[in-house]
Amino acid sequence: MRKGVLIFLVTTIVVLGFAVHSVWTLLSLLVVDGREDAISRAELPAPNSGAISERPQLIPKIIHQTYVNESIPEHWKGPQQSCLDLHPDYEYKLWTDKKSREFIAAEYPWFLETFDGYRYPIQRADAIRYFVLHHFGGIYIDLDDGCNRSLDPLLAYSAWVRRTVPTGISNDAMGSIPRHPFFLKAIDSLPDYNRRWVLPYITVMASTGPLYLSLIWRHYSNTNPQGMDRLRILFPDEYNNHPWSFFTHHLGNSWHRNDVKLIFWLGHHWVLVTLIGFTVGFALLWCIYSTFILHRQSNSAKARAAYSRMPFYRRISSKEHLELTDRHQV
Ligand SMILES: *[C@@H]1O[C@H](CO)[C@@H](O)[C@H](O)[C@H]1NC(C)=O
Repeated sequence: MRKGVLIFLVTTIVVLGFAVHSVWTLLSLLVVDGREDAISRAELPAPNSGAISERPQLIPKIIHQTYVNESIPEHWKGPQQSCLDLHPDYEYKLWTDKKSREFIAAEYPWFLETFDGYRYPIQRADAIRYFVLHHFGGIYIDLDDGCNRSLDPLLAYSAWVRRTVPTGISNDAMGSIPRHPFFLKAIDSLPDYNRRWVLPYITVMASTGPLYLSLIWRHYSNTNPQGMDRLRILFPDEYNNHPWSFFTHHLGNSWHRNDVKLIFWLGHHWVLVTLIGFTVGFALLWCIYSTFILHRQSNSAKARAAYSRMPFYRRISSKEHLELTDRHQV
């Protein structure tokens, strides 16, 4: 084999190996669906069924939401009220920026520096939900999610998150008992993932957002947690696709700023974004390959063609390395 090709192949394998290794968990998200941990509709009582009260209640009756301050915008008051109305017996906690910071300073001081250092406020809004679930337990609900029925049946699991299509999990509706190991891992890993990527959207998604939580989910599931440690998954049908689903989703009118919309769009389509990244990467490698290696090969092919047109005796006597290479290949 030619030296150039060999070097190219080895370099490509090393680069690819490194790339695949570093995104292995990410790639695994494409094939893992989490069905084995699904909260199946068959085990859920119908809305208003008497069976609801017979199920165990593990998760404390607390609803957590987050906003900048106490003045919730008009378009979110509807979804918020729908949750309050269906859960009069739940404690309600609204985590404003000020309260969130005070809470982290008091209960998780080791995280305060990272928390304050986040460049985008939405990173703090992401992070705080994992901490309050770890500390108090309860159910976190994004302000743009409304409630469609009582969440009581979901209190029967020690922890749950919701699956997003085509892949990964979301952090917009989650429930947990206090100190569940999944949310422990989710808060514990935050400093490690606090990296800045070129695009702000990727930074937000990968450091605290749905992509972050999805990666933690894969790492956590790989340890095969059992019993109370299991993390259950609410699939789209049970989330908001049907009249008997738990939530209603109000995205669209909620975010006015385009960059925030883009964050959410990318958050929901990060598989596509990742694939595009890979395609661009491969295309670049291919360009390098065709420019430097194929080009040189075609040059040496020309040389060989010239060589074979030489008179026979001159070919025999020639000490050119081309001849040696050719003999090797025979
Ligand atoms: C709450 O935050 C919103 C959005 O930043 C702002 O427009 C509003 O003035 C704030 N309200 C109060 C009472 O500080």
